[in-house]
Amino acid sequence: MYGLIPAPVSVEVSEGHCLIGCLPGFGYEKQFEPEVSVVASWLAQQLPKTIPEEYRQADIISINVYNDLVKGGTEAYKLFIRPTVIEIHVASAAGVVRAGATLAQLVSAHGCRLPCLSIEDQPRYSWRGFMLDTVRNFFSVDFILRQLDLAALHKLNMFHWHLSDDQAWRLDLEEMPELAAHGAQRLDRRFNVVKWKGGSYSAADVRRVVEFAASRHISVIPEIDVPGHSSALLASHPELWCRSAHDDRHFLPEDRYGIFDAVLCAGRDESLNLVGRVFSGLSGLFPGKYLHAGGDEVPKEQWLVCEHCRARMRDEGLQDKHGNFDPERLQAWFMEQVQVGINGLGRTMVGWDELVDGGCSRDVLIMAWRSTGHGAKAAELGYKVVMCPQNKACYLDHKHLDLEEEPGQLGICTVRDAYAFDPHPEGLSAAAAANILGGQANLWTELVYFGKQAEYMLYPRLSAIAEALWSPKAVRDFASFASRLELHGRFLDRLQVNRYRGPLE
Ligand code: ACM
Ligand code: ZN
Repeated sequence: MYGLIPAPVSVEVSEGHCLIGCLPGFGYEKQFEPEVSVVASWLAQQLPKTIPEEYRQADIISINVYNDLVKGGTEAYKLFIRPTVIEIHVASAAGVVRAGATLAQLVSAHGCRLPCLSIEDQPRYSWRGFMLDTVRNFFSVDFILRQLDLAALHKLNMFHWHLSDDQAWRLDLEEMPELAAHGAQRLDRRFNVVKWKGGSYSAADVRRVVEFAASRHISVIPEIDVPGHSSALLASHPELWCRSAHDDRHFLPEDRYGIFDAVLCAGRDESLNLVGRVFSGLSGLFPGKYLHAGGDEVPKEQWLVCEHCRARMRDEGLQDKHGNFDPERLQAWFMEQVQVGINGLGRTMVGWDELVDGGCSRDVLIMAWRSTGHGAKAAELGYKVVMCPQNKACYLDHKHLDLEEEPGQLGICTVRDAYAFDPHPEGLSAAAAANILGGQANLWTELVYFGKQAEYMLYPRLSAIAEALWSPKAVRDFASFASRLELHGRFLDRLQVNRYRGPLE
């Protein structure tokens, strides 16, 4: 399969070769111009800087794009490589970019002399994502654009952008400048001269990311994590903490990692008002269907002693079956208010799988991170689910190997483990199976300070997960993947990806 990752649905090789004598011209309908320009830039990256003498006489080939595919969905494509022409057939613009990713990989593998072949291809899942935590460490817009480009070259189509957590608030909203002013920098105490460290993304930065992603048919899902993981939010709004009359606690973005009691007071209307304004600001910046509101890892002890939270539980009848105040139900109630606000903006809320514990509207898309079992349970209950289980699958902050000298935290996930990821666990009912939209890889960055380190954690495990999400089960095979990875590795090298090169298992 010529180093193609993800593996296409079908590849048929025929006689002959197509010689590329120069950067080929394109024939296409005007509407495909943005996509064609992305594909042309990919080919220019992969073609040799000087075309070898023997190919210069080749017939000038043309890459013709036809908008005539009727089956396979918006991202499907057919690619024909013939001696003097390359044809791409699509059902929509997205297919042009997906076909272009295949073509770029073929050119990487074969240079100017492509084998004649025909490829038919379409994705297994509609949600093929990756998450980057830009909170624990700050990453530049240029780095994010580069990761989007690499993701598109692997046919991924969802970018989950983790923008708030205990350690920082990264979004500089024009209407609420205090959030980034107090939340975007944290004290770096690693040296004896303690400094503020961090950064935030302006509206212009977000527009660059969203537009670049759109040109590659990647949707951006921003995440603001509430009501937990909120130290950096409370840094500018300490009044939203469950304080008593004698408590004047102040908050700073955390310089430690873990789970903290910096949780928004679920009893105060002000908390919901603020979260509502934040998501309203987000909806103006991010045009996609989904807004992610977090909801994971919420310590709830202080809700039980806070007079506002207790009043809320009393007024809303949030008790357990023994009649005691139930903070799980308070979280469910809080997230429901957030969800109603997000729906009012015409968007769908995404939340981590803890939301299923207390129950929520079936309109919420659940991201199953604790385990595939949590995702299966949610799917059986009727939620739409994206699988990103932490254990030996989708958490790319884990080490590649069980070695002291490998970077990483909290677990081991070999390339083989990542490859074995399947969003559909055994034994699901047909209805539940239909609720699973796909999966994604998550890169948390507590120990990832620099972009080059991020690439080491991502690749080639993200290549493996991209195949798990795109390729039909019938063509997936680890031995084949491992052998394609030899050529694919050179493709990544040409793009100067700082990939992991060690054993795959
Ligand atoms: C998570 O890893 N807490 C979503
Ligand atoms: Zn409270």
